[in-house]
Parts: sequence; C-alpha cells; structure tokens
Amino acid sequence: MTGPERAPTAGSDRVVARPNTTFKPRRRALSAARRQDLERWLARWGLAEAGPEIEWSAIFGGLPVVVDIGFGHGETTVEMARARPDLAIVGIEVHTPGVVAVLDAIEHDPLPHVRVVHGDALRFLTRVPAASLAGVRIYFPDPWPKPRHHQRRLVREDVVGALADRLEPGGELHLATDIAHYAAAMQRACDSEPRLAGGIIERPPSRPLTRFEQRALAEDRQPVDLRYLRVG
Ligand SMILES: C[S@@+](CC[C@H](N)C(=O)[O-])C[C@H]1O[C@@H](n2cnc3c(N)ncnc32)[C@H](O)[C@@H]1O
Repeated sequence: MTGPERAPTAGSDRVVARPNTTFKPRRRALSAARRQDLERWLARWGLAEAGPEIEWSAIFGGLPVVVDIGFGHGETTVEMARARPDLAIVGIEVHTPGVVAVLDAIEHDPLPHVRVVHGDALRFLTRVPAASLAGVRIYFPDPWPKPRHHQRRLVREDVVGALADRLEPGGELHLATDIAHYAAAMQRACDSEPRLAGGIIERPPSRPLTRFEQRALAEDRQPVDLRYLRVG
C-alpha cells in the first residue's frame, strides 16, 4: 500500500481509556502453513493496529468507509462486503482464526474494497481521522454479563463518544445484541452522546443472520438492532 498514512489532525485525538479489556483471550495455535498464509495475506490486505493516522482515499479511492468491529468468524463481514462493493469495509478482530477466515475469502474471491485489522479496535481508532467514517457496525459484542465486568463492554459511553468523533455527519452507527439489558445499556450510552440521534429499529434485511444470532434465536433470545446517525 502506498501513501495511506499522514500526521494526525486536530480533533481525531480522542481515545479510549481502557483499550484492551473488551475481549477474552482465546489461544488456538495456527498450523505453520496457516501462519504463513496469515502473514502473506496481512501484508496484502491488512492495516496495522498502531501507526499514524490513515488517509482512506489513498487506500480505497473515494469509497465511503465502514468499520466492522469484532467480526468473529467474519461470515457477516464477507457477505455484506459482497453485497455492497460500493462501500469500503474495514473489519477489525483480535481472534486470529476469524482474521484468517476473512483474509482467505478476500484472497480467493477478491474483495478489493475490504481490509482487515488483526488487533484491538479501540487501539486502531487512534489511526482513524475525525469525521471520516460513513458507518460503524458492532454486531453481537461480548455481553460481559456480570456487573463487575460491565466496564469491559465494547459499547459504553467513552467508546460511543470516540466512535461519534470518527463518524462523518450523517454517518451511521449500527449495533445489534441478543442481550436485553445490554441493548438497554447501548441505548443509554448512545442517547447520552449529543452528536447521535436514533434508537431501536427493526432488524434490517441487509444484516445477515450471524452465528451468534442463530444461537440466540435457538435459545429464545430476541436480537435487538439499534441505529444512530451523527447529527451534530
Ligand atoms: C460475540 S463475538 C460476535 C462476532 C460477530 N460480530 C457475530 O455477530 O457473529 C464478539 C467478537 O468481538 C471481538 N472483540 C471484542 N472486543 C474487541 C476489540 N476491542 N477489538 C476487536 N475485536 C474485539 C471478540 O474477539 C469476538 O470475536
């Protein structure tokens, strides 16, 4: 990739205080061959978690950029990317097998408008310029159900504030969860961000059923979608 990096601009320096607490470590070693695939494909399709601010147009031309945080195994990310080649998609995930699965899809059924960050989305946010994203998707984030773990949730006030910073005017934050009290907490966090307006919506047909959602439906939990737009 050439020239996608430039010095940070004023306004994009709002960062999240506890970046590395939202996911559970899952250690599953890759085979040597898969590790080589990962390194080769990341060199082609990856964006580093840390580094200077990114200039999206140097990577994607003029495509609007949507960030997909915590894509898990990545089926939804790939399916939505295939359906919308007019959007640039940046998928971010810490779980290595999921990252390899998405890179494999990009490599073998070219999706030139997709890039992958193998790392912590909250750290990567420091590379994302203010008001530069057309959308942010967070589908079925880990619910961290115990009250003493709620501060480890991905969707919380400080993160919502940092995401609102990076959304362009009119940009969309789309959230989904199958945990009722997390949905209520998401709504409170978004409602308390003055630059966002929105609330609960019907499940949009554009969002495929994720693996986690299928399990939730089988266990009689009703998924909730929330959609907010940057209005300020
Ligand atoms: C419950 S899974 C949901 C996966 C997928 N979105 C779906 O709906 O099937 C949540 C994922 O978020 C990832 N995750 C949590 N915090 C993250 C962070 N700060 N940066 C990147 N990924 C994160 C976890 O590794 C996990 O794979």
